[in-house]
Amino acid sequence: MMINFEDDNEVEKLLKKIDTDIIKLESEKRYKHSLGVMKKAEELAKLYGENINKAKLVGLAHDIGKDLSKEEKLEYVKNNDIKIDEIEKINTGLLHAKIGADICKKKYGFSKDMQNAIKYHTVGNKNMDTFSKIIFIADKIEDGRNYKNEKKMKQLEETRKLANIDLNKALLFLIDSSLEFTLQKKELIHPDSIDTRNRIIMDNK
Ligand SMILES: [Fe+2]
Ligand SMILES: [Fe+2]
Repeated sequence: MMINFEDDNEVEKLLKKIDTDIIKLESEKRYKHSLGVMKKAEELAKLYGENINKAKLVGLAHDIGKDLSKEEKLEYVKNNDIKIDEIEKINTGLLHAKIGADICKKKYGFSKDMQNAIKYHTVGNKNMDTFSKIIFIADKIEDGRNYKNEKKMKQLEETRKLANIDLNKALLFLIDSSLEFTLQKKELIHPDSIDTRNRIIMDNK
């Protein structure tokens, strides 16, 4: 099963199907967020010349595994032979990226690059392509996002500006901002975030 992105009817049908599924699987807040990511991913895809239908589908579906319980997540990875690392074992929330990619492959026939965009949307990955970067950024800056923390809010506004100018700058700024908070809270840092950061800096030297 391959999705034909040129066939708007087919894409509309698949969007409907995903919508029906996530309304059941996600909290109301998360569902609204998913609609926001779909919209933002569409905008960024237009801006950076990526396929709009593909961006909408992935934006809508990206958090499909997020509202599973910790037990359900661990059971899912076990039953579906998904390899998990040391950090994901502790921060099981991170698993929703790999789980979401797997669900979307099996349920909707998402292509490899669509799966990767979902896989990479939480901590990043050094192999991210433009499409994955769009999904990663759309997730963090969709219109519904806001923070009580003033510094976080300022960073969000800055990222929104950067996203319209330079995808890599926006991504680097996002990672640096979130690392700052992770360090402050003395939480674990996933090595993929560091690798993503180094990759962008090396590629843009
Ligand atoms: Fe997510
Ligand atoms: Fe999300």
